[in-house]
Amino acid sequence: MLKELSRKGRRAYSLPELDERVRDSMGDIYHELPESMLRDSPPNLPELSEPEIVRHFVRLSQMNFAIDLGMYPLGSCTMKYNPKVSQRIARNPKMANLHPYQDESTVQGTLEILFELGEILSEIAGMDRFSLAPAAGAQGEYVGALIIRNYLRDNKFTGKDEMLVPDSAHGTNPASAAMAGFKVVKIPSSDDGIVTAEAVVSKITDRTAGMMLTVPSTLGIFEREIVEVAKIIHEENGLMYYDGANMNALLGRVRPGDMGFDVIHINVHKTFATPHGGGGPGAGPVGVKAELQDYLPVPLISKTGDSYHLDYKSSKSIGFIKSFYGNSAVLLRAYCYILSLGKEGLKTVSEQAVLASNYLLSLLDGDSYSTPYSPKTPRKHEFVVSSSPLKKRYGVSAGDVAKTILDHGMHSPTIYFPLIVAEALMIEPTESEPLENLESYAQVLNEIAKLAAVEKESVLASPKNTSIGRLDEYKASHPNTMILNWNSVPASRNQS
Ligand SMILES: Cc1ncc(COP(=O)(O)O)c(C=O)c1O
Repeated sequence: MLKELSRKGRRAYSLPELDERVRDSMGDIYHELPESMLRDSPPNLPELSEPEIVRHFVRLSQMNFAIDLGMYPLGSCTMKYNPKVSQRIARNPKMANLHPYQDESTVQGTLEILFELGEILSEIAGMDRFSLAPAAGAQGEYVGALIIRNYLRDNKFTGKDEMLVPDSAHGTNPASAAMAGFKVVKIPSSDDGIVTAEAVVSKITDRTAGMMLTVPSTLGIFEREIVEVAKIIHEENGLMYYDGANMNALLGRVRPGDMGFDVIHINVHKTFATPHGGGGPGAGPVGVKAELQDYLPVPLISKTGDSYHLDYKSSKSIGFIKSFYGNSAVLLRAYCYILSLGKEGLKTVSEQAVLASNYLLSLLDGDSYSTPYSPKTPRKHEFVVSSSPLKKRYGVSAGDVAKTILDHGMHSPTIYFPLIVAEALMIEPTESEPLENLESYAQVLNEIAKLAAVEKESVLASPKNTSIGRLDEYKASHPNTMILNWNSVPASRNQS
């Protein structure tokens, strides 16, 4: 810490002596601050030279991992390279320095960009209108679930209080449905890792409000019964919700709107390369079919003649979901990404993402990393393997493998998700990694498996090359602390 590096008398600046006395208009001298508020001694701040401060922060930044440093294949997170041209445009002071309360007439350029982005997303997703307001995928899901709830209520489809969600879903799906007041009904994945029409038929009732589905699923498998599933839900007057977190696998090839989905969100901070990892700002625009557009959050951007304005008039809207109009800097980056690649470029994105994922999977030692759910089915942009064989043979867990990867200067994949795969390693290389990075990642994983066989202690003690070594698992170091999970929330709060 800067405090520890501090040495008395060191300075990073040299300023003239401060004279806090001022002369008033009559020429009398007085102190600008009341005497009682003046310090007796200087504040106790760290004392360092400028190079020491610069080195301190550069050193800290080097302890971090970033997509600009190396491969970051966090499954379901799409940590792809962020093109610098988008970053540069988003930093343009004409965009970055706008004030949210500025008059509409002074922000026509930004409104035009956001309006166009909504139109482009509609075209890509096969929807009729988008709201760009939601700040993340999870917020988009919540918005979508509220739209479904209100639409069903207004159309007198009463008693529809159940939402079907597959067991492979991201945890935000059941959480968003529950927050919007639905009871979550779990659909088990088939042995092939898909949601079958048969499984849906076995769970659907007249209480079914709809279904939330991620395509491709979090297993990286395309839902090949989707058209049939959508038909079954629609026949029961339910609506189909598309979780678009994995949209990058389908870009330019198939559109959720054409597959039978009514409401969707797109994680633009994944699919369109706006920085995501580390909890940075995101955006989860929500798109709907025409009959649902009045329910979108306000304000929407409308165009009259050549001018754009924020439209708050919508009696059916679910209301405000986010102050002002979403995270416009993130949306701006997505707009740049889309325009710089164009229609064909976006198609190449999905092609490369899928190829990269299948190539990396083909290089893994299948005896150590097994592929659950129909191993012969090609995966889309990501795949999930299980390191259970290593656990059974040597007591080496997915967490141990992930920690050892860090020693090789690479980021670990997502682990222990989806929940339906034991010792899961969920790997999403993205389209922005060159061939040799895919090969070295597979090589590292295979070497870790070999090391586990001959020297498992070494794997269990990793990471050794990072600035901070293995930390105690929280539970081990806090044996008496209750760990809060969904089940420990009192039922009354859980329902609200
Ligand atoms: C399949 C899926 N759905 C939803 C989400 C939630 O998106 P966000 O992190 O933007 O809230 C994620 C996030 O990782 C996801 O992978």
